[in-house]
Amino acid sequence: MLKLLILAGDGIGAEIMQEVARIAAWFIARGLPAELDEEPFGIASWKRHGTLMLPSSWAKIRAADAILFGAIGSPEYEAIPAAAKTEDLLLKMRRELDLYANLRPVRALPALEDASSLRPEVLRGTDLLLVRELAGGLYFGEPRGIEIAADGTGRAFNTLVYTTREIERIARTAFEAARTRRGRVCNVDKSNVLETFRFWRDTVVSLHRREYADVELSHQYVDNCAMQLVHRPAQFDVILTENLFGDILSDCAAMVAGSLGMLPSASFGPVDAAGTRRALYEPIHGSAPDIAGRGIANPCGAILSFALCLRHTARREADAVRLEQAVERVIAGGLRTPDIASPGSRIVGTRDMGDAILRALET
Ligand code: IPM
Ligand code: MG
Repeated sequence: MLKLLILAGDGIGAEIMQEVARIAAWFIARGLPAELDEEPFGIASWKRHGTLMLPSSWAKIRAADAILFGAIGSPEYEAIPAAAKTEDLLLKMRRELDLYANLRPVRALPALEDASSLRPEVLRGTDLLLVRELAGGLYFGEPRGIEIAADGTGRAFNTLVYTTREIERIARTAFEAARTRRGRVCNVDKSNVLETFRFWRDTVVSLHRREYADVELSHQYVDNCAMQLVHRPAQFDVILTENLFGDILSDCAAMVAGSLGMLPSASFGPVDAAGTRRALYEPIHGSAPDIAGRGIANPCGAILSFALCLRHTARREADAVRLEQAVERVIAGGLRTPDIASPGSRIVGTRDMGDAILRALET
């Protein structure tokens, strides 16, 4: 029995994860061997328990096969005493569960061509997978800090560090993924300037030569890649990159899908002795505090993240495809949340979108 744990979190997290819970329940009622649990997280937990996360929640997070995560981030954090928010909970989870492999698939849906700021002929045919290193690099490198001198001026620093082990395991993720797709990896770095990336590239090239010569490997500098993503996104199959670059490039790539609200992601830890890997599934859009509580958020990114859970954690490819196709059919039918609205579409809220996807699952 798979243990699925919902952490809805902040902002629109609660609204969108309610739809995910209904869809998960639909699959469970039809034989998905899973049980669904939920824990308060972030501001919701603060309001109820006076802490951003209960120690007991942490135990459940560790025991879960998959975490279905909503979003984190809210202006309400400003009112919370600094002592209560010593660390970013999402980053803590990524680090402590060692969720190093972040997969962000981006596909241009023909029905959403007019929701993107890019021209349809630029988007057409895009189907890429961004593989982002998620547990290292500048986000976690030591030493880090801000020092203020006696005269009031200061210096601040972070460390961009990657080891052979860290680079090889994320490169493996990208090469393995490419083998199940169109067989091409584009490694993205900044090896023309930074030592860390010279080492990163050498390590990727050497691993490729030793174990993945059947995969086609190319390289781009990150500045060029950012341009290529809006110039000719269909050229990419798998993009392999480090933590901060992956953060930036994935927002950029999101425009190809029409909206940030459509994009799912999956994060994986190392494979354990039993052959399973801890996983966290989350939409990439974040908490959108400006529209939270109004019932208009797009639940598709979260729902498509659950499809990735069906595929990778539950290993039920047919169910994953069924859910992805249900979402596509609803979108193709002209139903839109406001973020992906276009002339002629029917604008609905979060719950209606969930209802429509549930109905599409039945057919
Ligand atoms: C993402 C987000 C996070 C990140 C934030 C919320 C810490 O932007 O998952 O892309 O920077 O990784
Ligand atoms: Mg981001």
